[in-house]
This record gives sequence, C-alpha cells and structure tokens, in this order.
Amino acid sequence: MPVDVLLGLQWGDEGKGKIVDVLAPRYNVVARFQGGPNAGHTLEFNGKRVVLHTIPSGIFRDNAINIVGNGVVIDPVTLKKEIDFIKSQGVDINTHLFISRKAHLILPTHCLLDKASELLKGKGKIGSTLRGIGPAYMDKTGRNGLRAGDIESKDFKNRYKALTEKHAELLSNMKYDYKEGEGDDAFFEGIELLRSLKLVDSELLLNEYLKDGKKILAEGAQGSLLDIDFGSYPYVTSSSTITAGACTGLGIPPTSIRNVIGIFKAYCTRVGSGPFPSELTDATGDRIRKQGNEFGSTTGRPRRCGWIDLPALRYACMINGVTHLAMTKPDVLSGFDEIGVCTDYIYQGKKTSVMPYDIVHHAAEPVFEYVSGWKAIETQTGNVKLSNEFSGYVSYLEKQLNLKIAFVSTGPGREEILEKEIMSA
Ligand code: GDP
Ligand code: IMO
Ligand code: MG
Repeated sequence: MPVDVLLGLQWGDEGKGKIVDVLAPRYNVVARFQGGPNAGHTLEFNGKRVVLHTIPSGIFRDNAINIVGNGVVIDPVTLKKEIDFIKSQGVDINTHLFISRKAHLILPTHCLLDKASELLKGKGKIGSTLRGIGPAYMDKTGRNGLRAGDIESKDFKNRYKALTEKHAELLSNMKYDYKEGEGDDAFFEGIELLRSLKLVDSELLLNEYLKDGKKILAEGAQGSLLDIDFGSYPYVTSSSTITAGACTGLGIPPTSIRNVIGIFKAYCTRVGSGPFPSELTDATGDRIRKQGNEFGSTTGRPRRCGWIDLPALRYACMINGVTHLAMTKPDVLSGFDEIGVCTDYIYQGKKTSVMPYDIVHHAAEPVFEYVSGWKAIETQTGNVKLSNEFSGYVSYLEKQLNLKIAFVSTGPGREEILEKEIMSA
C-alpha cells in the first residue's frame, strides 16, 4: 500500500494538525517525518483543544499507530511534558507510539546555542522558536549528534558530557554565559521517560507495514516556504519540510508515495522574521489576526498576516507534487467585502508570477487582485453545502493553481470539514 504525505504549503501553521486528526481514521499509521518542538499542531475535539509538538497528530485516534521518524529532532524535556499530558487523556502510549532510534536528540545546550546565535544575529535574527532546532540539525549534519537509540548504550552519559563540553566552548566563544550542568536534571528525567517508550528501527517497521498493505500517512511540520532548500533562505527552519523530506525522514522509497495533500490557509501568515510579500501591516491585517486568532501555538507570538500569495503557493505545489489541496480557515474571512489575492510580484522592475531566487535582498512587491467576499461559507449549518459567494473563491483558486481543492476546513473542530473531492485512501 502506498504512503500519503500531508504537509504545509505556506510558512507553517496552515492547520496540518487538524487535518491529520480528521484523516487519521483512514490510515493504520501516522508518521512525523521532520522538525521538532518548534512545531505546534492544534487539534480540537470533544470540547478539548490540544497542541502537539513532537507526537504525530493521529495519537488521539484509537486505530492508528503513531511513529516519530528518524528525520525528527526530539527534546526529551518537552517530549516528557507532552507524553504526560497524552497519558492523562487515557491514550495507551505503549501500543500507539513508536520512536525512531535514528531520531536525533536536542540537548539543553542546543537551546542555549540557538539563543546565543539569535542574539549575535541582532536585527538579522531568524525569529527562531529557540527550541534548539538549528543547532541540533547542525550537530546531525556535522556528525556530532546523539540519537534516541544512543540512550540504550552504556556510555550515553559520557557521550552527553563530551558533547555539552564542546557546546560550552562554542557558547563561551559566542560570549554566552553558560553554567556547567545547566538543564541536565530535566534532560535526564526526559531520558528516563524516553527509555520507557518503544524505540524502534522505524525505517524497517514502516517498510514492513508497506509490505503488509498497511496505509501510512506521513505528517510534515512547518511549511514549504520554511524549507531549508526552497524556503526564503536564510529565514527558514533547518529541515526538509517538503515531500522529499518524507522519504529521508522516514526511510520510505519515493515510489511508495501516492497522494500529496497540501494544506494552505485561505490567506497567509508568518511568524518570525523574513520576507512576506503579501503581508498587510494595516487594519486589514489586524482584523485577520483578530478573527483568525493568529497567535503562535508554540510561542504565543502574534503571527504576521496577509492575503493569499499565488506565486508562492504555485511554487510550493510544484516542488511537492501536490495531488490534493486542503484549504483551512476561510471562515475567518467571512464578512470581508472583498478578498485580496496576490497574483504576481513586481521584482526588479518586472512583473513575474514565478518565485524569484532572492526576495530577501530584493523586495517582491505584491500585485493584488480583489475578488468578492462572502457572508458565510455554508448555506446552512449541518449541511455542508458551500455558499455561492464562497464557491466563487474556491473555483477561482482551483483555476489559478490548476489543482482541485479536495478539502475545505470550516472551523477548528474535527467535524468542521467538507470533502469536496473524494480522496481514495
Ligand atoms: P499547524 O501547525 O499547521 O498544525 O497549525 P496550528 O495548529 O499552529 O494553527 C492553526 C490554528 O487554526 C489552530 O488554532 C487550529 O485550531 C485552527 N484551525 C484549523 N483549521 C481551522 C479552520 O478551518 N478554521 C478556523 N477558524 N480555525 C482553524
Ligand atoms: P508548525 O509545524 C510556523 C519558524 C519560526 C522562525 C523559523 C525558524 O506549527 O507549522 P526554528 O525554531 O525552526 O529555528 O525557527 O521558522 N517556524 C514556524 N513557523 N509554524 C511552525 O511549525 C514553525 N516552526 C518554525 O518562527 O521564523
Ligand atoms: Mg503550528
């Protein structure tokens, strides 16, 4: 059976968690393939609101096995908090959650290095979530990292010590005040918790599942415009957030991928620094932030808001090979007389509909077109028939993107979803 990949097409926070939670009953396995606790995936069901950071968003569905893949970076401290909460909700972690031995660990000193690096960057800071993501991936690619499987080895403590000593030297060079042993206790409490979880060779397990005909949903974090290669570099995260990242982050062959579900908001948001061509810094942007409750799920920071950006969205669909689109949060725009759409950029004096190489040092000025707004998305509650006004926006986007919008999310809750085009799974 093939794998379906679900990922964000913008700058993160598109509503991936919600859509995974909706789709999880169709799959036997949900597997996170990259990122770490910089992610905040929100689920709303049975009157509860839950934010997940490392654990896949299928964890509250009885049928699904959840796997934290090798491409993820794990902070044992935040993982412990998350697991304690999930257990308190009655989820049987022992049967529902597996962790890849090859997933790298985030050490307390990685978080300090993240802070020190941002301080040194000053005005040019990335606006990182400061969860140690960049430094942990740097140690991975620099071949210094510690992996979840290493906690099973006898000399784990010594290896931890050796790496923190290296970090202490770096922190001292960066003029960052570090006290030896800072954060160690909480880290080792997290390690104890990690020891109690099921560590697996997840690439072997997933390929077994594929052979057995099990259905797998690969869950991405962040968004395509934050991708280390294709995002607005250097204002990006440190992992591969695109479809290809599901192969390296889970150890599954590219040929196993069937549907690629690309999630986008009916408008755009970005949290942290970096270019955002269609950003609205006026009252309209404030209105979207207020109506959409656009504050970070992980850091609580206000999200920057703007109109939908078609050149960026087309680019994201292209590099991911999106087969099915899912639109979230159009309900937030209900009541706007007209909705802006960035159709092109003016870049170095020329109009273009293509994403330019460098929009950090040369601005991409948005060209906006305005379409009619809508009063309501559905004609009546309980009957998921789209209103005519809103349908106009959907068909307009489908034409512009040359792809069908298979899912329309009409609110944060699990039940608030319309499957416009049936996706076979
Ligand atoms: P993720 O990181 O992609 O999982 O997204 P976040 O959870 O960070 O942010 C999405 C926010 O929008 C969360 O608060 C969700 O509960 C909420 N949300 C998701 N879909 C919808 C929707 O269709 N309408 C509304 N109003 N809220 C939504
Ligand atoms: P989810 O999975 C939105 C942003 C940060 C910063 C940049 C680098 O919830 O969509 P990092 O901590 O990775 O060094 O930060 O990336 N960022 C996100 N923005 N949603 C996320 O995850 C994000 N994860 C990182 O704000 O600009
Ligand atoms: Mg989020």
